[in-house]
Amino acid sequence: MKSSRILYLVVFLSKFCISFSVVASFESMTKSHGYSKKSAAHEQDQQKSPQNSAVVPVPYPLPGYGSFTARSTVFSPLAFGAKGDGVADDSLVDGTLLAPARVSTWSKSSPYQWLNFKWVHNFTIKGTGFINGQGSQWWHSSPQLGGNQALRFYAGGNITVRDITIMNSALCHLKFDSCVGVEVNNVSISSPETSPNTDGIHLQNTRDTKIHNSNIACGDDCISIQTGCSNLHVHHINCGPGHGISIGGLGKDNSLGCVSNIKVENIYLQNTLSGVRIKTWQGGAGTVKNVSFYNIRVSNVAIPVVIDQFYCDKSRCRNQTRAVAISDVSYNQIIGTYSVQPMHLACSDDVPCTGVDLTDVRLKTSSSSYNQGFLPALCWNSYGKSQPPLLPSSIDDCLRRNINGDLIKKVERSHDSACQ
Ligand SMILES: *[C@@H]1O[C@H](CO)[C@@H](O)[C@H](O)[C@H]1NC(C)=O
Ligand SMILES: *[C@@H]1O[C@H](CO)[C@@H](O)[C@H](O)[C@H]1NC(C)=O
Ligand SMILES: *[C@@H]1O[C@H](CO)[C@@H](O)[C@H](O)[C@H]1NC(C)=O
Ligand SMILES: *[C@@H]1O[C@H](CO)[C@@H](O)[C@H](O)[C@H]1NC(C)=O
Ligand SMILES: *[C@@H]1O[C@H](CO)[C@@H](O)[C@H](O)[C@H]1NC(C)=O
Repeated sequence: MKSSRILYLVVFLSKFCISFSVVASFESMTKSHGYSKKSAAHEQDQQKSPQNSAVVPVPYPLPGYGSFTARSTVFSPLAFGAKGDGVADDSLVDGTLLAPARVSTWSKSSPYQWLNFKWVHNFTIKGTGFINGQGSQWWHSSPQLGGNQALRFYAGGNITVRDITIMNSALCHLKFDSCVGVEVNNVSISSPETSPNTDGIHLQNTRDTKIHNSNIACGDDCISIQTGCSNLHVHHINCGPGHGISIGGLGKDNSLGCVSNIKVENIYLQNTLSGVRIKTWQGGAGTVKNVSFYNIRVSNVAIPVVIDQFYCDKSRCRNQTRAVAISDVSYNQIIGTYSVQPMHLACSDDVPCTGVDLTDVRLKTSSSSYNQGFLPALCWNSYGKSQPPLLPSSIDDCLRRNINGDLIKKVERSHDSACQ
């Protein structure tokens, strides 16, 4: 795709609640050098107030059409006919939104945002269109340059993203930070397995969230759940390639990690690095509690079930006694094939994992593995109960029983208070 054909949109919304409409019927624009009839997108507006249906959006700005520069391609969504009244919910993405492909086009001062929505409430983005971050130059830069997140919401409420496709982001594709009430439904996210740090959906400090009926293929976590997330329901997701569905890494640099009430069910993971994973750094504080994984199907996943409290991105990290406490995590119906190890529950020496429940875990070695052998299940300092069927047999006696319940409760309480 030539850069002259790029429609580049940067949105910075401030201080007030605003909704807007973006319709980029890119194909028809480039073909006709005009604007298409499909450009009106005030559908809810029209329903609410029929007299508004005569509002015709202004013609598309043709940013940098022919001669592309960053400065000439920053414009307001109001130019597309958006209302910005905080009431009209008229966002629709059809056609394709393309980010500038060349790293040099991006402002050095804020390279991390492309489509960025702050303080929006009761807002929906939907449509049959594509948001394409064109991130390949970022992925292959050396040293790694970071890059932009394709679609990000900050401090929003009641936000829905549905039906659209988000692809090839330089960094994570869809991010929610400090939001309350989020629904992601029927979206497709895709970037190559080899694209570094391209999480599919990344959540932090976000609660009351539903993510469902979506396909995610990327180079990092399909769904990444960071500190401050609670009441999250993830279901009917296809993930792969990618690193699976992950809580954490939490507790980096002795920080506080708090994640609770997470339900992940009816998931299919294919050719991923892990399946369902909780990872924490040594030295952190806080808790991960009340997490359930139900009906997780895996196919050629390296390690389907992971708790790693020794997470470290270098070859060695300093051993520390403090840890984010992990409790009440259930695994029920984890079924399929693995290529390295069926289960890896490595809990902190000083803060054991408690209330780990294993029910009906049936994992077989994958025939499509190039691996030279398989590791048995590992459980280190993890307490809980297991119920058959459990396969392979190394899972049978993996967990320790909750013998010292009182001590464990005490550990839990002291960590809990940090998250109140
Ligand atoms: C969002 O919509 C709900 C009900 O539809 C309404 O109660 C609430 O006030 C709205 N919030 C904002 C910020 O407009
Ligand atoms: C979300 O919508 C509900 C009603 O549907 C409303 O009560 C609530 O205030 C809204 N929350 C936000 C943060 O807009
Ligand atoms: C899902 O989104 C696609 C467009 O990407 C649309 O064609 C399809 O109808 C949607 N499915 C549902 C069930 O909404
Ligand atoms: C655990 O989380 C689920 C939601 O996944 C919630 O319905 C339930 O009330 C939570 N249990 C506790 C003890 O908080
Ligand atoms: C941390 O402790 C483990 C065993 O408990 C040991 O194998 C490892 O070498 C230690 N790491 C460092 C950096 O001291």
